[in-house]
Amino acid sequence: MRVAVPKESRSGEKRVALVPDIINKLTRAGLEVIIESGAGVSAEFSDDQYAAAGATIKSGDVISGADVIASVQPLTPDQMKSLKKGAITISFLSPTTAVDSIEAAAGAGVTAISLELVPRISRAQSMDALTSQALCAGYKAALVGAELSPRFFPLLMTAAGTVTPAKVVVLGAGVAGLQAIATAKRLGAVVSAYDVRPASADEVKSMGAKFITLELEALEGAGGYAREMTEERAAKQRELLTPYISEADVLITTAAVPGRAAPRLVTAEMVATMAPGSVVVDLAAETGGNVEGTKPGEIVVTSHGVRMWGGKDVPSQLATHASMLFSRNVVNLLLLMASSVDGKPTGEITPDFSDEIIDSATLTFNGSRRTPEGAKK
Ligand SMILES: NC(=O)c1ccc[n+]([C@@H]2O[C@H](COP(=O)([O-])OP(=O)(O)OC[C@H]3O[C@@H](n4cnc5c(N)ncnc54)[C@H](O)[C@@H]3O)[C@@H](O)[C@H]2O)c1
Repeated sequence: MRVAVPKESRSGEKRVALVPDIINKLTRAGLEVIIESGAGVSAEFSDDQYAAAGATIKSGDVISGADVIASVQPLTPDQMKSLKKGAITISFLSPTTAVDSIEAAAGAGVTAISLELVPRISRAQSMDALTSQALCAGYKAALVGAELSPRFFPLLMTAAGTVTPAKVVVLGAGVAGLQAIATAKRLGAVVSAYDVRPASADEVKSMGAKFITLELEALEGAGGYAREMTEERAAKQRELLTPYISEADVLITTAAVPGRAAPRLVTAEMVATMAPGSVVVDLAAETGGNVEGTKPGEIVVTSHGVRMWGGKDVPSQLATHASMLFSRNVVNLLLLMASSVDGKPTGEITPDFSDEIIDSATLTFNGSRRTPEGAKK
C-alpha cells in the first residue's frame, strides 16, 4: 500500500505528519511512502532527507492515488472528495469542528481515523498525539513566560545583591500544564498550580510545585478529563483564585474541557490585580481563552502594563520536534493496523475494530459513519 504525506495547507501549520527518520519503519512493513515535495520544509526536513530515507518525492497531488494519507490537520472537504474509495486518512479530525471534512469523507467512501479520539489508555500512549503536542505547547508556554517577563526566573545571589525567583502560577495541570510546570521549575521559578481534578495534585507536587487547594467540589469527568463548571462554581473559583493570580509574576493557563469552549478562569478585573510587568500566557486563546482579553497570535498589553500572550499554533513553534513526536504517534497507529502472515508484513493496512484503539478512533469506515462499539456498551 502507498502512504502519502501532503504539504500542510492551513496557514500557520509548520508541522509535517512524517519525518524522514521514521520512514524506514513503514518501508520495513512493506509500505511505500510518497512525500509531497516541500512537505517537511517548514519543520526543517528537506526533500533530500526524505529521499535518502527511502521515500519517493513527488510534486503536486500525492493524495488522490494513495491508500493511506497522513496529515496533521484534517484534509479539506475537497481533498477528501479527491481520494480513492477505501482510502484511509489519519489526522487530527475533531468530530465537533471538522464536520465538513468528516461529511466529505463519508461521501467519498473513505475511512477517516481521528488522532483526537485515540483513547487515553496505557497501550495507546505511544499513539496519543494530543499528548505529544500538548507537551510541546506546555514547554513553549513556560519559555514565553520567561522571555516576556522583565524578571529572572531563578534565585540569584550576586555581588550586587540577591534576586528573588519569579512566581509562576499554572492553571490547568494536564499534559501541557505539567510540562509548563516542569520547564518553569527547571528555569528556577517558584511554581504553584491549580486544577479541578484532584488527581492532578500529586502530579503537581511530584514536579516540585505547590498545589493550590480551593474549597470547591472536584470536577473529574470521564476518561480522566475535566467536566464543565456551572457559572456559580466558575465565579467562586475566580474569587478564590484572585489572591494567587495577583501575586503571580507569570500566569500560564492551559485549562480545557473536551468538545467545549475553553473555560473562562480569569477576568480582566483579576488581571488588573497583577503588578505591572507581569505576564499572562494563555494556551487556550484559540479556543475562546482562559483569560479575558487574550487574542490568539498576539501580545496584548493592558493599560496597567500586564503583557498577555495568546497562543496560536503553539506546537508549530517547535515544528521539528513536534513533527518528530507526531510522526511516531502516526506510525505506531499505522503499525497497529499493519497485517502480517506468519510474522511477515503483507504491506496492507487493515483497521480491526475488535481493537479498542482503532474502534474508538475510526469515524468513518469505507464511507459508513461509525459509532464505536465501546460507546454502545
Ligand atoms: N494515556 C493516558 O493514560 C493519558 C494520556 C494523556 C493524558 N492523560 C490524562 O488525561 C487527563 C487530561 O489531560 P489533558 O492535558 O489532555 O487535558 P485537557 O487538555 O483536556 O485539559 C487541560 C487541563 O485543564 C484542566 N481544567 C479543565 N477545566 C478547568 C478549570 N475550570 N479550572 C482548572 N483546570 C481546569 C483539566 O482538568 C486538565 O487537567 C489528565 O488526567 C491526564 O493525566 C492520560
